[in-house]
Amino acid sequence: MTEIQTLPTRPIEGQKPGTSGLRKKTAVFRQTPYLENYVQAIFEGIGGIEGQVLVVGGDGRYFNDRAIGVILRMAAAHGAARCIVGRGGLLSTPAASHLIRSRKADGGLILSASHNPGGPEADFGLKYNGPNGGPASESVTEKIFARTRDLQHYLIWSGEAPDISRLGTASLGAMEVEVIDPIGDYADLMARLFDFDAIRGLIAGGFRLRFDAMHAITGPYAQEILERRLGAPAGSVVNGTPLPDFGGGHPDPNPIWAHELMAAMHAPNAPDFGAASDGDGDRNMIVGRGCYVSPSDSLAVLADLAHLAPGYAQGLKGVARSMPTSCAVDRVAEAKGIACYETPTGWKFFGTLLDAGRATLCGEESAGTGSDHVREKDGLWAVLLWLNILAVTGKSVAALMADHWARYGRNYYSRHDYEEVDAAAATALIDDLRARLPELAGARFGALAVARADEFAYDDPVDGSHAAGQGLRVFFENGARVVFRLSGTGTAGATLRVYLESLETDPEKLHQDPQDALAEVIMAADAIAGIAARTGRAAPDVVT
Ligand code: G1P
Ligand code: ZN
Repeated sequence: MTEIQTLPTRPIEGQKPGTSGLRKKTAVFRQTPYLENYVQAIFEGIGGIEGQVLVVGGDGRYFNDRAIGVILRMAAAHGAARCIVGRGGLLSTPAASHLIRSRKADGGLILSASHNPGGPEADFGLKYNGPNGGPASESVTEKIFARTRDLQHYLIWSGEAPDISRLGTASLGAMEVEVIDPIGDYADLMARLFDFDAIRGLIAGGFRLRFDAMHAITGPYAQEILERRLGAPAGSVVNGTPLPDFGGGHPDPNPIWAHELMAAMHAPNAPDFGAASDGDGDRNMIVGRGCYVSPSDSLAVLADLAHLAPGYAQGLKGVARSMPTSCAVDRVAEAKGIACYETPTGWKFFGTLLDAGRATLCGEESAGTGSDHVREKDGLWAVLLWLNILAVTGKSVAALMADHWARYGRNYYSRHDYEEVDAAAATALIDDLRARLPELAGARFGALAVARADEFAYDDPVDGSHAAGQGLRVFFENGARVVFRLSGTGTAGATLRVYLESLETDPEKLHQDPQDALAEVIMAADAIAGIAARTGRAAPDVVT
């Protein structure tokens, strides 16, 4: 006979949610009761789920299906009224956010490690989103973490979870499990925001596009929207079948990991427009023919021209960017006379601004762009906004970028990542630099003089919450900037991120290679933090 089981457990070390939920090696998550403990802590940390409606879905990576079975059985045991699940357990992160909002659910569990590789040897992740559809706030994740340290048991329904490969409703004890089409509602939302007729006309006129789904969740979404609804020829979406290990690849849409797309876009017969998304569909990369668009520049261009799309025709209430994101969008906001907020890294910090109607568009340098249509960043949304702008202006990506830089100047920008660095060495680098921040003002590094240096902290203007320790910043007198912070999403060692930026307004110097334009800032960053000496790395592992 099936029943609610109360199984004994003990706290497990290190179940602390990072920048975006809890991410660990798949092998760690698979070891019972690792997942069970964390789900129990979520349900307790948010104050119980009795009678609630939850959305459950993930990016389809290895272990997605079995983890969903456990989550459904635990939700039933905790008295949830209903779980809404994407067919096959699939939901892109933005589609999950939309579903929570459109169905007025109480929250959702999203299974993903985003752009990290998937598979038995790779990464897995789980995060809780609240009723606004956005990632849980810091105060909620702290409560969840506190519960992980104090668990004595977890509750689980003893029977099997229902088959989620077919649409329809089944029951699990007293709980209903509703399996829905993961794509239709999301595609309808996009059709409301953007001028699909204009984009269809552009494509019918011979405009060619290539969307690389990187064997991840956006494949079926992009096929439905770009090929079926907008008329792009079959095959415009490449690597469109989601695979549990993403084809062995690294589903992170940047020039390094999406090098196939970069090569296609720089080939002699390149398409007019290229784009890619990540494991769970919230990131985007935009590239024109022979013209890569950095995420920070993309945010600025979208902020400048979003009003050309029907969903944003009223203009923007304000914009927000994470602190390490370049300041390109700031000058657009200034020109438009709208507010520009600077938040810590991670989408969870945009939620209050979006909910309060203070910001319409948000973005991060890490290929995340989005708006108040959901409470997550949204890869396909950014692609469609770009296509809408291209259709209305009739200009190429390269021409739009040249126009933008000519008007606003160009914020040369790059991020250098040192991955899987010894954790103690990385922490020491940051701690020592933090201690030296007060003495840096006035110091010279090559041609650059430091104007000021600090550690970024944030006071949320809506809910008054305070976030400290959000990255070390060094500002130079010529307006250049370098930021140092440690990643909060890695699963092995530490990843040091160094964000480099410098503004160029001389019309003669707007078309350089960013690494050349930033050479002095790069040298100064190494001199300031002793990166090579402390990490033992002569060069970064990933340059974006
Ligand atoms: C990284 C990005 C950050 C993004 C997060 C989740 O976090 O830098 O902008 O919000 O992934 O996609 P990090 O590893 O730097 O903590
Ligand atoms: Zn992602």
